[in-house]
Amino acid sequence: MLVLGIESSCDECAAALMRGEDLLAQNVSSQIELHAPYGGVVPELASRDHVRKIVPVIKSVMEASGACLEDLDGIGVTVGPGLIGSLLVGVTAAKTLSWSLQKPIVGVNHLEAHLRAAFIDDHDLYYPHLGLVVSGGHTSLFRVNGVGDLVLLGRTLDDAAGEAFDKVAKLLGLSYPGGISIQRAAKGGDPNTIRFPRPMPGKRLDSSFSGLKTSAAVHIRKNGLPEGKALSDFTASFQEAVVDTLVRKTLLAARREKLDLVVVSGGVGANERLREKMNKKALADGVRVVFPPVEFCTDNAAMVAALAAVYLGRGTDHGLGLDANAGLGWQTL
Ligand code: KG4
Ligand code: ZN
Repeated sequence: MLVLGIESSCDECAAALMRGEDLLAQNVSSQIELHAPYGGVVPELASRDHVRKIVPVIKSVMEASGACLEDLDGIGVTVGPGLIGSLLVGVTAAKTLSWSLQKPIVGVNHLEAHLRAAFIDDHDLYYPHLGLVVSGGHTSLFRVNGVGDLVLLGRTLDDAAGEAFDKVAKLLGLSYPGGISIQRAAKGGDPNTIRFPRPMPGKRLDSSFSGLKTSAAVHIRKNGLPEGKALSDFTASFQEAVVDTLVRKTLLAARREKLDLVVVSGGVGANERLREKMNKKALADGVRVVFPPVEFCTDNAAMVAALAAVYLGRGTDHGLGLDANAGLGWQTL
């Protein structure tokens, strides 16, 4: 089955083409430079840039693969959650192709696509497993029973983990996206220098990162902007607090659900310290943890094509009534 995936929910304009389980071509056009001066995504700028990029990005993938649009068996597109203006661009492009080519169209949930990303490179993964989607907009734990069968176990009550990285990086004068800048600045730092709070200790699976962010802001106000070794220590300590919280809640959920496989995806899933500590602690619990390669952790369209292929294989066709839904939450269509 030849499936075109389209992703435009936030600040990446992406398309990918998959044949069966093989990724033939993909293109992710990032808007990092566009939003960098603002320290975060500006929705209006994002949607305007998607309008400029969506056709060239789709064309580049078709050309790189050597396939033609008429060969497609179907199209998959992210319908939510995300920024409404950004989502509408991808959904409109997908519907246009579906109508003009008379091919089935499947709308997928961005969070479910993030978790399916792990299957692109690892065909031995299985259900049920525990899924952690940790990104700029989400920190959500799921029991994943199968495609289209997710049970939400916990989520953030305020800021997402990636949002906390981005906001603290901005306070420190580091470049956007903050997660990567903090990871870089933390190299060689001592994570035990500042004892930042571990949010929401105890048995709850929900998380909250806004208090941690405030605690970082208060520290900067009291002690001034850290530089040199102090900056490495500060960022390593902050990163450790986020990582500890994610590791503890994820493994608590796995234990509670009696699951021996954990999939971690989303932009923050690219974090090296998170990968290292999650793997180490999970090993001690007899749990296997899978992180997709970094290029499939951050927003991409291969994950959309991979998930849509499963739905298309089941005969799903959402038709032209399909619409973008910014507040979709975690439900599948
Ligand atoms: O999944 P994603 O690309 O977009 C959303 O759906 O939100 O995630 C973007 C988030 C940003 O907050 C960014 O700072 C964070 O992922 N991020 C990282 C790293 N790379 C990206 N956070 C920590 N460490 C990283 N290496
Ligand atoms: Zn995402």
